[in-house]
Amino acid sequence: MSAAMIKLDYANVLSAVVGPEHGISPGEIQRAAGEVRELVGRIESERRQGQHRYRDLPLDRAMVAGVRAAVRKHRPGKENLVVLGIGGSALGNIALQTALNPPLHNLLPAGRRRGPRLFVMDNVDPVQFANLLDFLGPGLSRTLFNVISKSGETAETAAQLLIVGDLLARRLGRRALVRHLLFTTDPESGTLREMVQREGFDALPVPAGVGGRFSVLSAVGLFSAAMCGIDIGRLLVGAAQMSALAANRVVRKNPAAVLALLLHAFYVRGKRLHVMMPYSYQLKDLADWYRQLWAESLGKRRDLAGHDVSVGPTPIRALGATDQHSQVQLYREGPNDKVFIFLEVERFARDVKIPRSGQVPAPLRYLCGASLGRLLNAEKRATELALVASSRPCLTIRFPQVNEQTVGQFIMLWEAATTIMGGLLNVNPYDQPAVQLGKDYTFALMGREGYEQQARQLSRQTARPGRYLV
Ligand code: PA5
Repeated sequence: MSAAMIKLDYANVLSAVVGPEHGISPGEIQRAAGEVRELVGRIESERRQGQHRYRDLPLDRAMVAGVRAAVRKHRPGKENLVVLGIGGSALGNIALQTALNPPLHNLLPAGRRRGPRLFVMDNVDPVQFANLLDFLGPGLSRTLFNVISKSGETAETAAQLLIVGDLLARRLGRRALVRHLLFTTDPESGTLREMVQREGFDALPVPAGVGGRFSVLSAVGLFSAAMCGIDIGRLLVGAAQMSALAANRVVRKNPAAVLALLLHAFYVRGKRLHVMMPYSYQLKDLADWYRQLWAESLGKRRDLAGHDVSVGPTPIRALGATDQHSQVQLYREGPNDKVFIFLEVERFARDVKIPRSGQVPAPLRYLCGASLGRLLNAEKRATELALVASSRPCLTIRFPQVNEQTVGQFIMLWEAATTIMGGLLNVNPYDQPAVQLGKDYTFALMGREGYEQQARQLSRQTARPGRYLV
């Protein structure tokens, strides 16, 4: 891989480092590589038949042109961009913004920001939402709402849209709605698409065959990123580079295949908790995005043959150095059932020197003249070595820098690894049947037509008296 590529370092999962009981030997990797090689070949031939559509997004010029045109139309005069969406319709947007714009982007004056303030509302918490509406009040006429829902049916997003639509109509008049609402939804079906067709709202498509958690590199994630000045062209260049590597049947040259192979091998041995621990504020929300991708794609009751298998690794997010002071005690001395995936940055975009000047007490002098970046990376190495000393396997994904290209590589690395891991576990990584029941119950509890039977069933359950200790 070239110097501009992220790298996967797996030295510290090997049995030579963490011992034969908890590590993997080169022989085991070699043996597993045959199955993975075949799987990669199968995925590539399925791609030629139109499956795994997210892999083609980086080369979809028409999609990028559509996003850029929408940005040109909607950006002028906008001070605030509010994304209304949840799950795969929000986590990627948050991750891109945290990774690629300054941490205090929303607090910067307009002249020092690369675009509008961005608020991604991925919940229906009334206090949070009311507070946002208060904040937007005076600037409502300079606010764009990007309503994102692939299905166009999600209750949380629908509720937010109804509130915002009503507010806009009352404050600015019904005719203003088309200037303040942009929909990102299925190109053909769903309630949002019907609204677009009926009322003439602008809309961007979520491409067919691309599910929510695999959609960050479509209009779902790209529109808010481009509005806020992120170079989406470079993001896609990085993703295309990784997609090309992920097609390589030579497993050791395919980082997505190696990642899936190792995490699957550990899963089979009972290390089913996969802790991603970025040592970078910029990368922390990518770990949240990974959490959804890994959990919702791989946690499945039935395998592809319909057998009840109830499989799936549990992804966990921790943040270095913060969580050294809350989690590492457990990670080193608790059950040895985890694999650690560190994210490390070689060169931070900014660094802060620790001064030599002033009266420094002797015990603190070792810090003088160093920088926060050096300290953070030393803490990462120290934590990793401490875990290795306790026979805990550790992977590192190393970013030369955090920029659009490397973030694009990282996103595609995990998406492709998820598809391969799904193949190794023999499950469908693209569905989420278990989420549906909760959605249906919500519809029933909220009185949606067509859900009367579930409503009756639920009322029998809720009729049971609660049990309380006091
Ligand atoms: O990955 C997924 O498919 C889900 O997390 C969805 O993104 C989430 O449920 C929101 O769905 P929708 O975009 O249809 O509103």
